[in-house]
Amino acid sequence: PRTIYLTRHGESEKNVQQRIGGNAPLSEAGKVYAEALAEYIENEKLSDLIVWTSQRQQTIDTAAKVYAPKEQWKALNGINAGIFEGLTYREVAERYPEEFAARDRSKYYYRYPSGESYHDLIARFEPVIMELERAENLLVICHQAVARCILAYFLDKDAESVPNIEVPLHTVIKLTPMAYGCMMESIPLSV
Ligand code: G3H
Repeated sequence: PRTIYLTRHGESEKNVQQRIGGNAPLSEAGKVYAEALAEYIENEKLSDLIVWTSQRQQTIDTAAKVYAPKEQWKALNGINAGIFEGLTYREVAERYPEEFAARDRSKYYYRYPSGESYHDLIARFEPVIMELERAENLLVICHQAVARCILAYFLDKDAESVPNIEVPLHTVIKLTPMAYGCMMESIPLSV
Protein backbone atom coordinates (compact mmCIF):
# COMPACT_ATOMS: atom_id res chain seq x y z
CA PRO A 1 0.00 0.00 0.00
CA ARG A 2 1.04 3.59 -0.51
CA THR A 3 2.28 5.78 2.28
CA ILE A 4 1.77 9.43 3.06
CA TYR A 5 4.61 10.92 5.07
CA LEU A 6 3.33 14.01 6.82
CA THR A 7 5.46 16.54 8.65
CA ARG A 8 5.46 20.14 9.79
CA HIS A 9 8.30 22.29 8.50
CA GLY A 10 11.43 22.36 10.67
CA GLU A 11 11.36 24.87 13.51
CA SER A 12 11.34 28.42 12.12
CA GLU A 13 12.57 31.67 13.63
CA LYS A 14 8.90 32.57 14.17
CA ASN A 15 8.26 29.33 16.07
CA VAL A 16 11.14 30.25 18.37
CA GLN A 17 9.59 33.67 19.08
CA GLN A 18 6.04 32.23 19.19
CA ARG A 19 4.94 34.54 16.38
CA ILE A 20 1.87 33.68 14.36
CA GLY A 21 1.77 32.94 10.65
CA GLY A 22 3.63 33.95 7.51
CA ASN A 23 6.92 33.22 5.91
CA ALA A 24 9.96 32.56 8.07
CA PRO A 25 13.51 31.21 7.76
CA LEU A 26 14.36 28.00 9.59
CA SER A 27 16.09 28.19 12.96
CA GLU A 28 19.34 26.25 13.49
CA ALA A 29 17.35 23.29 14.85
CA GLY A 30 14.99 23.56 11.88
CA LYS A 31 17.94 23.32 9.47
CA VAL A 32 19.18 20.21 11.25
CA TYR A 33 15.69 18.71 10.88
CA ALA A 34 15.78 19.37 7.11
CA GLU A 35 18.97 17.27 6.94
CA ALA A 36 17.57 14.53 9.18
CA LEU A 37 14.37 14.37 7.15
CA ALA A 38 16.27 13.96 3.88
CA GLU A 39 18.31 11.16 5.39
CA TYR A 40 15.23 9.43 6.81
CA ILE A 41 13.44 9.58 3.45
CA GLU A 42 16.49 8.31 1.60
CA ASN A 43 16.58 5.27 3.89
CA GLU A 44 12.93 4.51 3.09
CA LYS A 45 14.10 3.72 -0.49
CA LEU A 46 10.99 4.92 -2.31
CA SER A 47 11.35 5.02 -6.06
CA ASP A 48 8.28 7.07 -6.87
CA LEU A 49 8.10 9.65 -4.08
CA ILE A 50 6.69 13.13 -4.73
CA VAL A 51 7.13 16.00 -2.25
CA TRP A 52 4.46 18.63 -1.64
CA THR A 53 5.23 21.84 0.20
CA SER A 54 3.30 25.05 0.75
CA GLN A 55 4.50 28.28 -0.83
CA ARG A 56 6.13 29.36 2.42
CA GLN A 57 9.89 29.47 2.82
CA GLN A 58 9.97 27.30 5.93
CA THR A 59 8.39 24.34 4.08
CA ILE A 60 10.43 24.83 0.89
CA ASP A 61 13.66 24.96 2.91
CA THR A 62 12.65 21.86 4.88
CA ALA A 63 12.21 19.99 1.59
CA ALA A 64 15.42 21.30 0.05
CA LYS A 65 17.64 18.27 0.71
CA VAL A 66 15.04 15.63 -0.10
CA TYR A 67 15.89 14.06 -3.44
CA ALA A 68 12.52 13.80 -5.23
CA PRO A 69 10.28 15.91 -7.48
CA LYS A 70 8.55 18.77 -5.64
CA GLU A 71 5.32 20.69 -6.02
CA GLN A 72 4.31 23.86 -4.18
CA TRP A 73 0.68 24.22 -3.14
CA LYS A 74 -0.89 27.50 -2.09
CA ALA A 75 -3.69 25.45 -0.51
CA LEU A 76 -1.12 24.03 1.96
CA ASN A 77 -0.14 27.46 3.33
CA GLY A 78 -0.65 27.90 7.08
CA ILE A 79 -3.82 29.40 8.50
CA ASN A 80 -4.02 33.09 7.54
CA ALA A 81 -3.94 35.08 10.77
CA GLY A 82 -4.98 38.32 9.02
CA ILE A 83 -4.03 41.45 10.94
CA PHE A 84 -2.36 39.31 13.62
CA GLU A 85 0.27 37.86 11.29
CA GLY A 86 3.70 38.38 12.82
CA LEU A 87 2.42 39.12 16.34
CA THR A 88 3.10 36.87 19.31
CA TYR A 89 0.17 35.22 21.10
CA ARG A 90 1.00 37.40 24.06
CA GLU A 91 0.79 40.59 22.00
CA VAL A 92 -2.60 39.51 20.68
CA ALA A 93 -3.82 38.83 24.23
CA GLU A 94 -2.60 42.24 25.41
CA ARG A 95 -3.73 44.35 22.46
CA TYR A 96 -6.91 42.51 21.44
CA PRO A 97 -8.22 40.78 24.56
CA GLU A 98 -11.76 40.34 23.14
CA GLU A 99 -10.40 38.63 20.04
CA PHE A 100 -8.13 36.44 22.13
CA ALA A 101 -11.04 35.40 24.34
CA ALA A 102 -13.29 34.78 21.32
CA ARG A 103 -10.74 32.39 19.83
CA ASP A 104 -10.45 30.63 23.14
CA ARG A 105 -14.22 30.13 23.23
CA SER A 106 -14.52 28.70 19.75
CA LYS A 107 -11.21 27.97 18.13
CA TYR A 108 -12.76 26.07 15.22
CA TYR A 109 -15.13 28.84 14.06
CA TYR A 110 -13.07 31.84 15.16
CA ARG A 111 -11.94 33.80 12.10
CA TYR A 112 -8.87 36.02 12.44
CA PRO A 113 -9.72 39.63 11.41
CA SER A 114 -9.04 39.74 7.63
CA GLY A 115 -7.85 36.13 7.89
CA GLU A 116 -9.18 32.59 8.22
CA SER A 117 -10.78 30.22 10.69
CA TYR A 118 -10.10 26.49 10.87
CA HIS A 119 -13.51 26.11 9.24
CA ASP A 120 -12.31 28.27 6.32
CA LEU A 121 -9.05 26.33 6.18
CA ILE A 122 -10.86 23.02 5.80
CA ALA A 123 -12.90 24.48 2.92
CA ARG A 124 -9.77 25.78 1.17
CA PHE A 125 -8.18 22.42 1.69
CA GLU A 126 -10.86 20.33 -0.13
CA PRO A 127 -9.02 20.15 -3.48
CA VAL A 128 -5.88 18.93 -1.71
CA ILE A 129 -7.82 16.04 -0.17
CA MET A 130 -8.97 14.93 -3.61
CA GLU A 131 -5.39 14.93 -4.88
CA LEU A 132 -4.17 13.21 -1.69
CA GLU A 133 -6.58 10.39 -2.41
CA ARG A 134 -5.19 10.00 -5.93
CA ALA A 135 -1.48 10.27 -5.17
CA GLU A 136 1.00 7.41 -4.68
CA ASN A 137 3.85 7.74 -2.15
CA LEU A 138 3.93 11.28 -0.95
CA LEU A 139 5.83 13.49 1.50
CA VAL A 140 3.74 16.47 2.61
CA ILE A 141 5.65 19.25 4.36
CA CYS A 142 3.23 21.81 5.76
CA HIS A 143 2.21 23.82 8.82
CA GLN A 144 0.65 22.74 12.09
CA ALA A 145 -2.90 23.91 11.31
CA VAL A 146 -2.86 22.20 7.90
CA ALA A 147 -1.28 19.02 9.31
CA ARG A 148 -4.14 18.94 11.83
CA CYS A 149 -6.66 18.98 8.96
CA ILE A 150 -4.85 16.16 7.14
CA LEU A 151 -4.72 14.02 10.28
CA ALA A 152 -8.37 14.68 11.06
CA TYR A 153 -9.31 13.58 7.56
CA PHE A 154 -7.38 10.30 7.63
CA LEU A 155 -8.15 9.47 11.25
CA ASP A 156 -11.79 10.48 10.95
CA LYS A 157 -11.86 13.08 13.72
CA ASP A 158 -14.66 15.60 14.29
CA ALA A 159 -14.14 18.97 12.65
CA GLU A 160 -14.39 20.78 15.98
CA SER A 161 -11.55 18.78 17.50
CA VAL A 162 -9.17 19.75 14.65
CA PRO A 163 -7.68 22.93 16.22
CA ASN A 164 -6.52 20.98 19.28
CA ILE A 165 -4.82 18.00 17.64
CA GLU A 166 -1.17 17.90 18.71
CA VAL A 167 1.30 17.73 15.86
CA PRO A 168 4.82 17.91 17.28
CA LEU A 169 7.71 19.52 15.45
CA HIS A 170 10.54 17.39 14.04
CA THR A 171 8.40 14.28 13.72
CA VAL A 172 7.45 12.32 10.63
CA ILE A 173 3.91 10.90 10.72
CA LYS A 174 3.56 7.90 8.47
CA LEU A 175 -0.02 7.33 7.29
CA THR A 176 -0.97 4.13 5.47
CA PRO A 177 -4.59 4.16 4.29
CA MET A 178 -6.19 0.70 4.59
CA ALA A 179 -9.52 -0.66 3.36
CA TYR A 180 -11.06 0.45 6.67
CA GLY A 181 -9.32 3.31 8.41
CA CYS A 182 -5.69 4.28 8.34
CA MET A 183 -2.53 3.12 10.08
CA MET A 184 -0.49 5.81 11.75
CA GLU A 185 3.04 5.78 13.08
CA SER A 186 4.96 8.77 14.53
CA ILE A 187 8.70 8.88 14.07
CA PRO A 188 10.46 11.67 15.98
CA LEU A 189 13.82 12.48 14.34
CA SER A 190 16.60 13.65 16.59
CA VAL A 191 17.85 17.13 15.76
O1 G3H B 1 0.01 26.76 11.95
C1 G3H B 1 -0.28 27.58 12.83
C2 G3H B 1 -0.11 27.32 14.24
O2 G3H B 1 0.95 26.45 14.51
C3 G3H B 1 -1.40 26.81 14.80
O3 G3H B 1 -1.55 27.49 15.96
O4 G3H B 1 -3.03 26.43 17.62
O5 G3H B 1 -2.92 28.92 17.35
O6 G3H B 1 -4.02 27.52 15.58
P1 G3H B 1 -2.97 27.58 16.69
